[in-house]
Formats: sequence, structure tokens, C-alpha cells
Amino acid sequence: MALLHVENLRVDIPMGNSPTPDDMLHAVRGLDFEVERGEMLCIVGESGCGKSLTSLALIDLLPRQAKRTASRLTLDGIDMLSQSERRMCDLRGNRLAMIFQEPMTSLNPAYSIGDQLSEVLTQHRKVSRKEALARAAQMLEKVGISNATERLRQYPHQLSGGLRQRVIIAMALMCEPDLIIADEPTTALDVTIQAQILRLIRDIQKELGLAVIFITHDLGLVARIADRVAVMYAGEIVETAPALQLFESPQHPYTRGLLASIPIPGRTRPGEALGSIPGLVPSLVGEQQGCAFRNRCSQAIPACAQHVPEVEQGGHRTRCLFAAPDRAPIRLPESVRS
Ligand SMILES: Nc1ncnc2c1ncn2[C@@H]1O[C@H](COP(=O)(O)OP(=O)(O)OP(=O)(O)O)[C@@H](O)[C@H]1O
Ligand SMILES: [Mg+2]
Repeated sequence: MALLHVENLRVDIPMGNSPTPDDMLHAVRGLDFEVERGEMLCIVGESGCGKSLTSLALIDLLPRQAKRTASRLTLDGIDMLSQSERRMCDLRGNRLAMIFQEPMTSLNPAYSIGDQLSEVLTQHRKVSRKEALARAAQMLEKVGISNATERLRQYPHQLSGGLRQRVIIAMALMCEPDLIIADEPTTALDVTIQAQILRLIRDIQKELGLAVIFITHDLGLVARIADRVAVMYAGEIVETAPALQLFESPQHPYTRGLLASIPIPGRTRPGEALGSIPGLVPSLVGEQQGCAFRNRCSQAIPACAQHVPEVEQGGHRTRCLFAAPDRAPIRLPESVRS
């Protein structure tokens, strides 16, 4: 059984003071997905497609005005839709943890690193402060921070951005959660540090057998770390597949457009122009009938305004009239996955 089951997850935000149904911003529009134990699921999509609201909905930390509904949301068999706020607090940190984009939003500038890390453990487990600090030092070493004992005494402002993100990862690991949700955890970092943090997350995920939902707008990054990929467009998942399958046989025209817009070693020739997807993402206000991508899709026909079938073949799901499992695959060199 999958660790996390999500069925028909929706997030709606009323616009204005007395909104009618047409004024409702439907930011997340009926997502279905699962995460297996020990797997890295990447959710990828353009800015504003609902990635962050999806992750906040999973841990029940949506902004006050946003409303979450779902037919099913279970973590290891626990029904997350019916938990009290107190029980959710207990589950957060303990069974599932979140890594945000900007480490300063997760660290309190007024407390030392040691205080903040050890508190995660003392809140959830019956351990002494001394034991918690010892575990904190261990976790700092695990995320590649040397002089751990000294670092525990420091404050967030004394650390660089990369080190702060390592501390956040250590914090997420303190209670050995089953699932970590990382929302663009490397976007605020410069490129070399980004690569280090990415490798760290991937190594820890493999070593500890953690399930990770990794959220990003960067498909190039997905190619390096994902086991499975869900492509989001305008609040919906339009394609889900094992990572290699998605890169070799993308089915949805949006995924194909995204792939054409990034350089891929061995596939993009030097000097070759990259593609771009014309047009704009549709407004998420009001209901959408038919395929949300049709106004930007070169293959769209009138029927796309009506019904979008979901085609499934061997764990590869695509919501498109034109999904064709027998399309010629694109062969990727091994180096892309290293
Ligand atoms: N608190 C809020 N109130 C109103 N609208 C919101 C709120 N938070 C998000 N939205 C809107 O919901 C949609 C989805 O936002 P979300 O933050 O989930 O996007 P995202 O995919 O994470 O984008 P990015 O890649 O820029 O982080 C956007 O249209 C956004 O403007
Ligand atoms: Mg976001």
C-alpha cells in the first residue's frame, strides 16, 4: 500500500468580500496521486500552478481563507482529513515534515540552532534536553555540517544560506518522519550550493528510505533526482509517470513543450534554439471546462473544450485527448541521471 494517498484534493480561495461561485479561485483542482515508501516524487509546473498550495494542503497549513477538500487523504493509513489540530501538530514533524524555499521563514532568529533543533524532538518524544541536543549534533553531522557542537550554539544569522538550508533539513529529520515535503528547497540558493543541497537531499532520501515530495518549477533538476514525476498545469496534474518514462516518452503537449524548453545533455545540440510555450496560463478564477492547456496547444481541437480523458498505461497517466503510448521514445543518455 502506498504511504500517501491523495484523491480529489482541491483548494479554493474566495476572492473579495462576498464572493459568488464565479469569484472563487480554484487553485488546486482535483489532484489524485500516491507516494510510495522510499520514493522521490517530483511535482513540477510553472509559477502559480498550485504547487505550494498543494503542499500546504497536505500538511494542513493553508492560509486561513483557503478551503481544502478531498475524497481521501491518508498517510500510512491515518485519515488526515479528520485529525484534530492538536493531533495534526503531533503528526507534523513526527510523521511528515516540510522544508520551505526560504530557510529564514522556518528558523526563528531569536533562538540558537541547538534550541530549535532539540525542541522538535522534545515536543514529540519523551527525551531530555541533553539527549535532544546530542541527536541534534548527530543530525547536523548527517547533513554535512562540521563542528556540530559549536554550530548548535550559533544563531541563524551567523550561518550562510546553504548552511541554513542544511539546518532545516536536519530539523526535518529530527523525528525520522516517513514523508518530507520540500517546496523549492534550493531556489533561493546560488547554483553550486543548489547542487550540493540537492545531492544531500537525494543521498539522505536513499540512505534513510524516506519518501519525499520534491516541488520545483525546474524540469532539469527533476531529471537528476526524481523516481516519479507529476506535471502540474493550472491546478491539475496533467501527466504522471516514472521519471525515465516521462523524459523518454512525454505524452502531454504541455510536458513536451516544457521538455523542449530546457537544454538536455546529449539531446540538445550546441547552438540549437530552445523552444518556448506561447500564450499565458489561464486564470484560476471560476470553473474550467475541458483542457486548461488548449489555448496554448498546437494540437487542440474543438473537442478539447469538452471532455479530457485520462489515459493510463503501466503507471503512466496522461490527461489529454492525444495521449499516445506508442509514440517513438526519446532516448536519454545515462549521464543525465547521474
Ligand atoms: N493566500 C492566497 N490568497 C489568494 N490567492 C493565493 C494565495 N496563495 C496562492 N494564491 C494563488 O493561488 C495560485 C497557486 O499558488 P501557489 O503558491 O500554489 O503556486 P506555485 O505553483 O507554488 O507557484 P510558484 O512556482 O510561484 O511558487 C496562484 O494563482 C496564486 O496567486
Ligand atoms: Mg510555490
